[in-house]
Amino acid sequence: MNIAAKTLFDVDLHDQADEIGEAINQAFHEYNVQISSVIRRLLSLLPVSVRLPGDARLNEAVQRLDRLIYGIIARRRAAAGDRGDLLSMLMQAQDDNGTRMTDHQLRDEIMTLFLAGHETTANTLTWTCFLLAQHPEAETKLLAELQHVLGGEPPRVNQIPQLVYTQYVIKEAMRLYPPVWFISRESTTDYEIGGFHIPPGSEIGMSQWLMHRSERYFPEPLAFRPERWQDQLEKRLPKYVYFPFGGGPRICIGNSFAEMEATLLLATMAQRFHFALAPEHPVVPEPSITLRPKHGVRLRLKAR
Ligand code: HEM
Repeated sequence: MNIAAKTLFDVDLHDQADEIGEAINQAFHEYNVQISSVIRRLLSLLPVSVRLPGDARLNEAVQRLDRLIYGIIARRRAAAGDRGDLLSMLMQAQDDNGTRMTDHQLRDEIMTLFLAGHETTANTLTWTCFLLAQHPEAETKLLAELQHVLGGEPPRVNQIPQLVYTQYVIKEAMRLYPPVWFISRESTTDYEIGGFHIPPGSEIGMSQWLMHRSERYFPEPLAFRPERWQDQLEKRLPKYVYFPFGGGPRICIGNSFAEMEATLLLATMAQRFHFALAPEHPVVPEPSITLRPKHGVRLRLKAR
């Protein structure tokens, strides 16, 4: 979260990180409860809208995030000047009539970038550490590469191409635990796919979780094997078999940023610490907007 806030909007959220994290947790939790609620489904069929206690909790969490984001916008407007970051670009952007974004439009853009820009990468790293803690053979190979390329120094961006195995580890973690596990689209026209007729207005779901675990494309699909990405596996796979960042016109715009960030962070952390799973802590994937561990992942870190 701090990395996203600093790099995208040049703000330091260190002091507020816990409070923001709590608001995001609350919003995700309520969203999750709401989309899986049968009662809500039934109520939505009524001609009047009925408010349930969860709505107030969701609103409260969104308002807390709104206060943060409107605060960032107000401070930036007051400071004026181009800081050269994404927020400055958004504020300067004009449409064909020369109109700039309102605070509300900026709020929407920032909320999307802020949430999309940290939650997914944090989940990627969480699942990566969880998997590495259970696969000492992968950890040994990772360490050998880090030692060879970095020699105990912090990684630099220009060394990323050499951190080949490190990137395989992250790719493999995103295969087994895709941070975005499901996306959907609404069909606009009649369509035929695999013998099924799709009428316009249908919602079509595509699940990374299912495709990434398909035996048809990944031998021993449940095994954590970073080596499988050797010899350009990703290029050899049919399109949309492996799609952690989605695809088409709405493909993730933070794709390269996320890969760079995750590689640098994993290289930094793994060089310094050995990860072991804390005993008796249940790790349960929770398919919310992103794929989060329901009770978190608890690790014991041992300094190297
Ligand atoms: C491992 C990290 C990440 C994963 C797995 C991921 C995944 C995705 C996926 C699957 C989508 C497409 C959603 C859809 O098709 O409905 C998406 C969209 C998006 N992502 Fe990411 N993302 C990651 C990191 C980031 C970062 C770091 C940023 C910003 C710096 C970002 C910003 C966005 C934005 C703005 C969109 C919406 C794009 C659009 O609708 O045109 N993401 N992301």
